[in-house]
Amino acid sequence: MQISPSILSADFANLEAELGAIRNADWAHVDVMDNHFVPNLTLGLPVVEALLRVSPIPIDCHLMIDDPDEWAPAYAEAGAQSVTFHIEAAANPRGLARTIRSAGARAGMALKPRTPWAPYEGLLPDLDMVLVMTVEPGFGGQSFMAGLLAKVRAVRESARRRGGEVWVQVDGGVSAANIEQCAEAGADVFVAGSAVYGADDAAAAIDELRELATRHAHRTPGVPGNAW
Ligand code: DX5
Ligand code: ZN
Repeated sequence: MQISPSILSADFANLEAELGAIRNADWAHVDVMDNHFVPNLTLGLPVVEALLRVSPIPIDCHLMIDDPDEWAPAYAEAGAQSVTFHIEAAANPRGLARTIRSAGARAGMALKPRTPWAPYEGLLPDLDMVLVMTVEPGFGGQSFMAGLLAKVRAVRESARRRGGEVWVQVDGGVSAANIEQCAEAGADVFVAGSAVYGADDAAAAIDELRELATRHAHRTPGVPGNAW
């Protein structure tokens, strides 16, 4: 059970200190937005390179950009430990996932809320993570869409059937109020922006989220004590 706080809700004037404040997390989630794929503009490769130089924890890049086939590999080459592209924007998702892996990063694929999972199940052997968006991508601080838990379950079930070691990430509105449901549905990596950086004590919020998720980890029915 891993927590990946989104620095989108951090103080952009003090990113080094803001990364230090979440050093007990498993990952730092960095939202790259290009103002084309989503109606918001955040940061790009030069800032990610700077973050990689100072981050005490690995960087989980979520690329909400057009043409990831062209732009995503550079994030892996720069040293980002996980690089996630959106399926809606990728021309050759299998080739892109393989390129990201061969550059040394974990390869993730994200789905917007209205994008179905079934057509992409066959990509699983080339993926290390599937990101199920639980808000429309573009902005932090939106409300969690519980209807997306069915997609989390479907992805987890596909991963179980194929016997792969695929992580399932949820991103958008995740908080102490819903992380248990996400974990029960089969998520094992949890992005939280406002729930971490909006808390008085970010480190304590991370510990609380991880503990709630761990207590409610998904179990395959009939297999006691054996997570999926
Ligand atoms: C939204 C981003 C999320 C966002 C999460 O497009 O992908 O990572 O920052 O922030 P919260 O947890 O506040 O919804
Ligand atoms: Zn994100």
